[in-house]
Amino acid sequence: MRISVVGTGYVGLITGVGLASKGHEVTCVDVIQEKVDQINKGESPIYEEGLDELLKKVLAKKKFTATLDLKKSVLDSELTFMCVGTPTKDDGSIDLSYIKSAGKSIGESLKEKSDYHVVIMKSTVLPGTTEDVLIPILEKESGKKAGKDFGVCMTPEFLREGRAVEDFLNPDRVIIGALDEASKKVAKQIHETKDKQFLVTNLRTAEMIKYASNAFLATKISFINEIGNVCKRLNIDTTQVAKGMGMDHRISKHFLRPGLGFGGSCFPKDVQAIITQAKMILIMILMFLNL
Ligand SMILES: NC(=O)c1ccc[n+]([C@@H]2O[C@H](COP(=O)([O-])OP(=O)(O)OC[C@H]3O[C@@H](n4cnc5c(N)ncnc54)[C@H](O)[C@@H]3O)[C@@H](O)[C@H]2O)c1
Repeated sequence: MRISVVGTGYVGLITGVGLASKGHEVTCVDVIQEKVDQINKGESPIYEEGLDELLKKVLAKKKFTATLDLKKSVLDSELTFMCVGTPTKDDGSIDLSYIKSAGKSIGESLKEKSDYHVVIMKSTVLPGTTEDVLIPILEKESGKKAGKDFGVCMTPEFLREGRAVEDFLNPDRVIIGALDEASKKVAKQIHETKDKQFLVTNLRTAEMIKYASNAFLATKISFINEIGNVCKRLNIDTTQVAKGMGMDHRISKHFLRPGLGFGGSCFPKDVQAIITQAKMILIMILMFLNL
């Protein structure tokens, strides 16, 4: 399949190189010239085990290229992944400016396409964003109808830093949120490999699965740290407590190690974004009830 990937950061580059290694023809798009040049030279801007080797391999096989030309990439492909960043704003809400601007450019390109095209949201966005923000932009700019003239899916990414290439090539689960049957078929085909769990949902459920997963893991880390604070006072070794808890398969040992707390590029921003959305919902309910 011919695939374009918009946003060549951590997720976009691994998605692009991973799909190219499976035989697809991939073009990764970014707005930063230096990044595009560096990637085309076979140098990954990020470090992930196995990524440099795989990048060089797919470039040599001419299965992969990076470019600044979004329009040509969309016109020359059948499927576009949206992988731009979704940082946090000062008020804790999610900044959708990259999604909106990339969505506008994808929509303008779709206007010139006669073939059916699928757009897959891979960026982490709050429940309702693909339906209420991306689709209206794509429809407005293309003059076409989502679910009829072009397809839309949402496939959240669950890469672990340090093992991202391995996770992309052999994920333990694939969640596909789909607007329409035709795009669901395309998304399933792209993610098809053996021994993995598939779940097909609607768009907003797929978006929520990503946030609920990250919030749950962050909670698990915070929980064992809180237990650790109590243990310290009682002269109990928290690592032994965590080990004993983790032996229960309903709990599991993962993300149950006492330490500094959660961090990284996703957990803090995703937890903050879902809290802010939940607060907004609560305010709307209170206003509705006139309280
Ligand atoms: N980093 C992770 O571990 C991880 C894991 C799962 C999901 N996610 C989510 O995936 C999304 C992307 O994350 P990331 O870490 O790859 O972000 P990133 O900031 O590393 O990369 C985003 C890239 O998009 C480019 N970009 C911005 N606007 C563009 C446009 N209009 N056209 C083309 N390129 C454009 C930027 O220049 C940048 O290179 C986020 O929503 C993030 O929350 C990240």
